[in-house]
Amino acid sequence: MTPKFHAVKVKEVRQETEDSVSIAFEVPADLQESYHYLSGQYLTLKAEINDEEVRRSYSLCSAPHENEWRVAVKQVENGKFSTFANETLKAGDTLDVMTPAGNFKISPDASTQRSIALFAAGSGITPIISIAKTILTQEPLSDVTIFYGNKTISSIIFREEVEGLKNEYMDRLRLVHILSRENLGTPLLKGRIDVEKANQLFKVFLQDDVPESVYICGPEQMILDVKESMLSNGMDTKAIHLELFTSPDDPKDKPAEKYEGPQIESNVSVILDGDRFDLHLESDGENILDAATKTGADLPYACKGGVCCTCKAKVMEGEARMDVNYALEPDEVAAGYILTCQAHPMSDKLVVSFDD
Ligand SMILES: Cc1cc2nc3c(=O)[nH]c(=O)nc-3n(C[C@H](O)[C@H](O)[C@H](O)COP(=O)(O)OP(=O)(O)OC[C@H]3O[C@@H](n4cnc5c(N)ncnc54)[C@H](O)[C@@H]3O)c2cc1C
Ligand code: FES
Repeated sequence: MTPKFHAVKVKEVRQETEDSVSIAFEVPADLQESYHYLSGQYLTLKAEINDEEVRRSYSLCSAPHENEWRVAVKQVENGKFSTFANETLKAGDTLDVMTPAGNFKISPDASTQRSIALFAAGSGITPIISIAKTILTQEPLSDVTIFYGNKTISSIIFREEVEGLKNEYMDRLRLVHILSRENLGTPLLKGRIDVEKANQLFKVFLQDDVPESVYICGPEQMILDVKESMLSNGMDTKAIHLELFTSPDDPKDKPAEKYEGPQIESNVSVILDGDRFDLHLESDGENILDAATKTGADLPYACKGGVCCTCKAKVMEGEARMDVNYALEPDEVAAGYILTCQAHPMSDKLVVSFDD
């Protein structure tokens, strides 16, 4: 189903730490089916901030069985949306909220017995705590280990909630805090989660019962380091799931590499909700999402950086290439899915559908 925005009322804005709030939404009963989600998925929020439309994605930290839609937003320096959420947004306000999306997700199965390892750092805890709650409540035979990196104890988002989970599921949840600026009494738990630290944690906590899956969310370097460690410890790449919050190729940091392949002119058709938008594009020109949006198509998108997969569509005819892809799984790419914010035609004719 194509993700869609609806105006949804903010039920609560709760201060979680000095620089983060969580926001709960009052999803009306007639929309709740459309807002059904799996743990790990995110909502995209849209607001007018200083006369500019700003869209940002936030992972749901609630779990589906809680019948709640809650996200947490950490304030980043000079951040448009995160500052608005932390300083201005209040209960009773209305935001445009897109229906849930995302590939970083878990489907619980009550009859399964498995071990899941979850690595989070900072605000990366949001999808991780949702996954933990789902596994602990919906899979009575499975166990969970959470490795949670932060600077100090006071900066730990959802500290009480994760500690509460540990007390409730003492025999099935291991919670391992790692702090970079405070001591927890052992060198293993001090520092940043890098390759070496992840190797040490694997040896102590995971080696004897290698997890079926690992979910990692946090700063890019931490994600890459944990992945490298898990692979070098024998885990299969398919068992390792990553969620990035920012695009490593953010043009604000460095320009994306210039395309130097064949130059192809193409007639591109974009299909959304049965409507068709025709474009004439070049393989080294504007991306499909931007070009189609200019013709009036209200396509779903959020990050425009190849990270979130809100703009995912399927190639029905022809070929396309992507500048970057941090969101689609290899099997989705093989099945013809593209991120339209990163996609350009590679054949004379290209048909792309948001409806499949
Ligand atoms: C799938 C997905 C899920 C996400 N889930 C969450 C979540 O649960 N909680 C959450 O707080 N954020 C989450 N994010 C990040 C969020 O969407 C925004 O990028 C973030 O809140 C910053 O937006 P902003 O408008 O405040 O900053 P902007 O105005 O976009 O950026 C301001 C400056 O901050 C830098 N910056 C942007 N994001 C970050 C960051 N995360 N850390 C450090 N510097 C940054 C930018 O490079 C820029 O220089 C998620 C992102 C994605 C793609
Ligand atoms: S809008 Fe996020 S990947 Fe395209």
